[in-house]
Amino acid sequence: MKDAKARILEQVRDYHGTEEKEFEPGVTAVWPSGAVFDAADRVALVEAALDMRIAAGVSSRRFEREFARYFRLRKAHLANSGSSANLLALSAFTSPQLEDRRMVPGDEVITVAAGFPTTVNPIIQNGMVPVFVDVELGTYNTTVERIEAAIGPRTKAIMIAHALGNPFAVEEVARLAEERGLFLIEDNCDAVGSTYRGRLTGTFGDVSTTSFYPAHHIAMGEGGCVLTDNLALARIVESMRDWGRDCWCEPGEDNRCFKRFDYQMGTLPHGYDHKYIFSHVGYNLKSTDLQAALGLSQLSRLDAFGAARRANWSLLREALDGVPGLIPPRATEGGDPSWFGFALTVEPGAGYTREGLVAFLESRKIGTRRFFAGNLTRHPAYLDRPHRVSGTLTNSDIVAGHTFWVGVYPGLTEEMVRYIAESVRDYARKNS
Ligand SMILES: Cc1ncc(COP(=O)(O)O)c(C=O)c1O
Repeated sequence: MKDAKARILEQVRDYHGTEEKEFEPGVTAVWPSGAVFDAADRVALVEAALDMRIAAGVSSRRFEREFARYFRLRKAHLANSGSSANLLALSAFTSPQLEDRRMVPGDEVITVAAGFPTTVNPIIQNGMVPVFVDVELGTYNTTVERIEAAIGPRTKAIMIAHALGNPFAVEEVARLAEERGLFLIEDNCDAVGSTYRGRLTGTFGDVSTTSFYPAHHIAMGEGGCVLTDNLALARIVESMRDWGRDCWCEPGEDNRCFKRFDYQMGTLPHGYDHKYIFSHVGYNLKSTDLQAALGLSQLSRLDAFGAARRANWSLLREALDGVPGLIPPRATEGGDPSWFGFALTVEPGAGYTREGLVAFLESRKIGTRRFFAGNLTRHPAYLDRPHRVSGTLTNSDIVAGHTFWVGVYPGLTEEMVRYIAESVRDYARKNS
C-alpha cells in the first residue's frame, strides 16, 4: 500500500508539470490576484485526500502550531474562512467568561467604512453598533486621531483591517485601546507578513485574523485563522468555533481533561459528559485537514511570496511616479507592507475617469478590482442597520467613486507588471 501511495504521489508531481506559458500582451489574462501552487502543494493536498483526512487532524494541529510560531503568538485556531475568523474574533468578547468586560448588544465598535463587509458584519451579527470612521487617500487606512474622536461612552472595541496589506498605525492604535480600556481586533486577512515598526501586523491586537482564500498571501481554497496570545480568549474562540462546547478534546480524542465524567456545570446533573456540555452559544466554523495540508505546504513559501508582492508593488510604484491625474498608493509611515494590491485613485478633475481607465485596462486583459465596498454605509445591506458615523466619510466616498486596484500577487511576472504600468501610463497621458 505504501508503494501505491508513493507511486500515486509521484504521478501527481508529474501531472503538475512545469510548463510556463509565454505572456502575450492583450491576450494573456493579468489577474489582480490568485494563488500560486507548486508540485509540493498539489502533492500535499492529494496526500491528505488519499489518507481520507476529511476532518481536522494532524495537519490542522501542525498548521496551527506553526502559524502561531510564525507570529510568535501562543495560539492559532483554524476556521473555514477569514469571515468566520472575524466572526469568532469579535464573538469571543461576548463570552460570559469575560465577566464584566463582556461585550453586549448595543455596545459600539469602531471600524472603517471603506473596507470589506465581513470585517464589519460580526459587529452587527452580535447586535452591536458599528461606528464608521473615514480613511486617508493613498494609505487607505484610518488614523489614530479619527479613532480617538469616535470613542463614545458605549465604545468597547476597535475592529479594523490593514488596508490592502498596508498596516494602519497599529502600535499607536493598540496604545490608545489600552489607555481607553478597549479591545483591539486586527483583521490581518490582507496583510500576513506586513510589519509595522518592525513587528508583524496581527501581533498588536488582543486577537487577529487571517484568510486563506486564494487571493490572499497563502491559500487553502477556503480557510481562515484566529490568532491570540491570550490563552483564555483562545479557549473561548475554540469553544465558539466547535459548537460552543466546553470540552477541548480534538476530534477522535476522549477525556483529555481526565475528568470527562466529573464536571458539574450550569444546572446539569453532576458527571454529565463533558463532551456534551456547552458553555457558549457557538457555531461550527471548523476547517478540514485537506485545507490545512495545503496551507502547511504554502506556509513554507510565505516569505518568498511576500518578497514577490513587495517587488511587484515597488516596480509599479516607480513606473507610475508622476503620472498625471492619479493619486499613487503609499505605505503608512513605519509600515513595511506585504501588499495585497496596488490601489490607484483617479483625481476628481483628472481629465479622465476611473471608469474610462478601468475599461481600457480590462480591454487589455488587465484585471482590476474595486476597493472592496468603497463606502459600506451606501450599500443596501447597511442602510437600515443601526450605525454611527464619526466625522464625515468624504474620502470613503472618493474611494467608492474613484479608486480601483490592480494586482501584485506572486503569479505576475515582471513583464506583466511592466505591461500594467505602461497601460496605465499611456492611458493617463493621452487623456489628461
Ligand atoms: C480585509 C478582509 N477581511 C476579511 C475577508 C474575508 O475573508 P474570506 O474570503 O476568507 O471569508 C477578506 C476577503 O478578502 C478581506 O479582504
